[in-house]
Amino acid sequence: MMGLRRSRIPIKSERELDTMREAARHVGEILLEVREHIRPGVTTGELDEIAAKSIEKRGVRSSFKGYDPHGLPKYPAVLCVSVNDEIVHGIPGPRELADGDIVSLDFGVSVGGYHGDSAVTIPVGEIEAETARLLEVTRASLDDAMEVMRPGARLSDLGHAIQQRAESAGFGVVREFSGHGIGQELHEEPWIPNFGKPGRGPRLECGMVLAVEPMVTVGRPDVRMLDDEWTAVTADGSMSAHYEHTILVTEDGGEALTRLSGSH
Ligand code: MF3
Ligand code: CO
Repeated sequence: MMGLRRSRIPIKSERELDTMREAARHVGEILLEVREHIRPGVTTGELDEIAAKSIEKRGVRSSFKGYDPHGLPKYPAVLCVSVNDEIVHGIPGPRELADGDIVSLDFGVSVGGYHGDSAVTIPVGEIEAETARLLEVTRASLDDAMEVMRPGARLSDLGHAIQQRAESAGFGVVREFSGHGIGQELHEEPWIPNFGKPGRGPRLECGMVLAVEPMVTVGRPDVRMLDDEWTAVTADGSMSAHYEHTILVTEDGGEALTRLSGSH
């Protein structure tokens, strides 16, 4: 049965892709602007304000603010800022960044009805060698997934590549959060786990656009949710990194639409 069913992953037209490229470019540029302000003493709320001002100046729309997925409180900011043991969906506020922290920025906008979504983890000042290795490996796991994003590959090959890279480096892969299709919705079919056996699920085709977002931990990958109902932290308090791009499937492998020169 499953084998006969056509994939439900939407294929974007050239016209849609033009619009998605524009949304993705704004996401990449604003992330670069926010990154320039990362230093000890800046608050996570100030980073959110910088992103919000740039959104306004450009006349684009936040994909995150007011987002209301499963009857949780609406997401209150334009940026997710997750520090150290915070894995994902950290809410910006009065917390000051300190030397030795790592800070994950996750950001999305829409233009002409199409979304872009990207995340990056940045060191604050000097970080420990093991933490630097976490950042390198998490980024490399995303590059590995992009490498397999050619027509004919199976969806689960992505998560397999990510898990392989992270676990062979001795790190953990978070199970509770996944990548996703992206287009007219921020989250479209399919869900893309960052782990699993290869060779399963629908085949990729040119024109599919997927937001791939590995979350990797120094220690165990188990998750605990904070009382704000958004922020996910590692249960063991270990450091966690998060990288994401909005990626187009092409004959030559994934093309990261949110990657600009100078970005992750
Ligand atoms: N990249 C994040 C994700 O897909 C974006 C979350 S948007 C939020 O989960 F509004 F839910 F925070
Ligand atoms: Co995402």
